Amino acid sequence: MARRVAMLNNKGGVGKSGTTIRLAEGLAKAGKRVAVVDMDPQGNSSGMLGWRYNPKLPQPTISQAIKANTDPNEAPGCAREVFQPIGWECSYAERIQVAPSRLPLENRMSEAGIGGAWRRLDQALEGADDGFDYVLIDCPPSLLHLTQLALAAAHDAVIVTDADVYAIEGAMRARDLIEKKAAKNLGNPNLRICGVILNKYKDTVRQREQRDSIHSIFGPAVWDPTVKFIESLATANNNAVSLEEFKGDRASEIRATYELLTQTFLKEIPLP
Ligand SMILES: Nc1ncnc2c1ncn2[C@@H]1O[C@H](COP(=O)(O)OP(=O)(O)OP(=O)(O)O)[C@@H](O)[C@H]1O
Ligand SMILES: [Mg+2]
Repeated sequence: MARRVAMLNNKGGVGKSGTTIRLAEGLAKAGKRVAVVDMDPQGNSSGMLGWRYNPKLPQPTISQAIKANTDPNEAPGCAREVFQPIGWECSYAERIQVAPSRLPLENRMSEAGIGGAWRRLDQALEGADDGFDYVLIDCPPSLLHLTQLALAAAHDAVIVTDADVYAIEGAMRARDLIEKKAAKNLGNPNLRICGVILNKYKDTVRQREQRDSIHSIFGPAVWDPTVKFIESLATANNNAVSLEEFKGDRASEIRATYELLTQTFLKEIPLP
């Protein structure tokens, strides 16, 4: 069974999707087989990995796997058909697959009240993700049903934040959901927060203060290195370019940052 890691924050725009795909990339470069499960109806991590919807092709999304599994006892493993190649052309692209999402994933929210619905992603992935070492689950900017599906399915959680008061509040709400509710409400007593990633960091007085408060709130859970705000990284993410292919400003600094972050990931979330 793959090690499943939910990437979350209640706050939007902090870099959950960008961090998810760059860690997937780092792990693949390190020889691991990685899947990204896109649990955000915005489909940003699917897009950043170069996955494109083509209505002429059969391209099942994670929404369909979850829907098929509304009766959780009926279709364990039904996410198997959803994993697809990504659009990058780098040397390690074949070690990354995506379970993509599109806007219809929103429709799964209305089924949240069906008995056992919160187990649907866990059941859909059961057996289906055996071929991967790690499954990174990119959550939407919400702590409601879609994120709760991810938390019910995951072994570990990584909170992504930027150095902003509201993002830190969102990170604390995510922590509280995991620490106070995951065991009882999501049937996942072993879920643990194994990292907090500070992203989009600008070395200003205000951000230094916020960084200090992130360290005092989350202590040793904060991972090294911090990822700086780098304009060209947004270009690489949003144009779906791998860091191997990326030729923009500060490319070597970006590569070095994610190599170190991947090392921290592998240290904190080792495979058995
Ligand atoms: N370190 C960074 N430096 C500069 N831009 C960044 C950085 N990290 C992410 N970005 C960019 O910031 C924007 C938001 O990032 P991203 O989509 O990863 O955030 P998110 O938390 O997943 O957002 P949402 O809550 O909408 O899902 C994107 O354009 C992304 O490329
Ligand atoms: Mg996102």
